[in-house]
Amino acid sequence: PYRRSIRLAVVPGDGIGPEVVAEGLKVLAAVLPQDVKLETTEYDLGARRWHATGETLTDADLRSLGQHDAILLGAIGDPTVPSGVLERGVLLKLRFEFDHYVNLRPGKLHPNTAGPLAGSPAVDLVVVREGTEGPYAGNGGTLRTGTPAEVATEVSVNTAYGVERVIRYAFERANARPRRKLTLVHKNNVLVHAGNLWKNTFDAVAAEYPDVTTDYLHVDAATIFFVTRPERFDVIVTDNLFGDILTDLAAAVTGGIGLAASGNINPTGAHPSMFEPVHGSAPDIAGTGTADPTATVLSVALLLRHLNHDQEAERVEAAVAADLAERDPNAPRRTEQIGDALAARLAG
Ligand code: NAI
Ligand code: MG
Repeated sequence: PYRRSIRLAVVPGDGIGPEVVAEGLKVLAAVLPQDVKLETTEYDLGARRWHATGETLTDADLRSLGQHDAILLGAIGDPTVPSGVLERGVLLKLRFEFDHYVNLRPGKLHPNTAGPLAGSPAVDLVVVREGTEGPYAGNGGTLRTGTPAEVATEVSVNTAYGVERVIRYAFERANARPRRKLTLVHKNNVLVHAGNLWKNTFDAVAAEYPDVTTDYLHVDAATIFFVTRPERFDVIVTDNLFGDILTDLAAAVTGGIGLAASGNINPTGAHPSMFEPVHGSAPDIAGTGTADPTATVLSVALLLRHLNHDQEAERVEAAVAADLAERDPNAPRRTEQIGDALAARLAG
C-alpha cells in the first residue's frame, strides 16, 4: 500500500528537453521510497505539436495540467518555429495562467566545478525573480508598424499586490536560511516609479523581519558583485527582467548552464508549480547525447522539496555534489551516463 502519491505532469518539449527529462525521471524513480506512488502524465507541447496542429497550449491542456501536483519541463523552443510563438504561447502562458509569481533560481558553486569563479570562496545564493509582471506582462504594442515611423512600447507592469507577495516570499526564504540576508536589486535611481514601489514595499515588509539583514543594489552594480564578490549574496529579490538576466549570470559564475535549476512557483498551491532547467532546448547539440542532465536533476530536487519530500531532495543534491566532485573535465560523459551514475548513487 502506498503512503503518498505524486501526480506529475511531464513536458519534455523540444531539442534536448526530452533527453534531459528522461534522466530527471530516472533519478526521481531512484530516490523515491517504495511507498510513494509516482503517476506521470506526458504532454506533447512544443514544436512537433505546433507543426502538426498549429496549437501551442490549449484550454484543455491547461485544465488537465492543473490536476497535477507539479510539472517537470525540459525546454521549449525550436529554430523551425518563428521566435516567440512557443516561448510566449507555451512557457509564458503556463507561468501566467498558473500564477507562478515566484521564479526561484538557486546558484551554488561546488568545489571542482569549472568556470570563471573556480576556486573562489563558497557561493550559495538564491535569486527570487518576480514571474508574472514587469516588462514581461505583455503590456505593449506597435503603431505605424513596419513603417520608418514605427512606434513600439513594452510597458513594465508593477502592482502593489504583485510586488508585495514576491517580496514576502523572499523574506520567508531568507529568514529560513542560516545567513538571513536579503538583497533587493532594482534601478530606482532611473526607473523611479516602479523602483519606489519596490523599495517602499521592501522596507515596509523588512520591519516585520527583524532577524533578516537587508540591503539594496542597483542592477548594474549587482552584475559587478556577481562576478567580483558573489559570496556577499544570500537571497536576492528582483523584478522579472532584471531577474532573467541576473539568473543567467548567476548560472554562468556557479558552474555553468548545465547545472542551473529553477522552479516556477505558486506558493499558495492554487495551481501546480513547474520545475525546469534554466537552459533552453540547445538545438546545436540536440540529438548528440551530450547534454548535461544535471540542471534537470537539480530541478527535480527543487520539485521534491516543494512537495515536502525534503529528505529525498537532500539526497538528490548530495548525489549531484558527490558526482561533481569526481568529474573529470577531460573525460566528458554522455547524457544517460550522468543520469545512470546519479541514479546508482541513490540506489546504493
Ligand atoms: P540554450 O540554453 O538552449 O543554449 C545556449 C548554449 O548552452 C548552447 O550552446 C547549448 O548547446 C548550451 N547548453 C544549454 N543547455 C545545455 C546542457 N544541458 N548541457 C550542455 N550544454 C548546454 O539557449 P538558446 O540557444 O538561446 O535557446 C535555444 C532555444 O531554447 C530557443 O528557442 C529559446 O527560445 C529556447 N529557450 C527556452 C527556455 C525554456 O524552455 N525555459 C529557456 C531559454 C531558451
Ligand atoms: Mg533567461
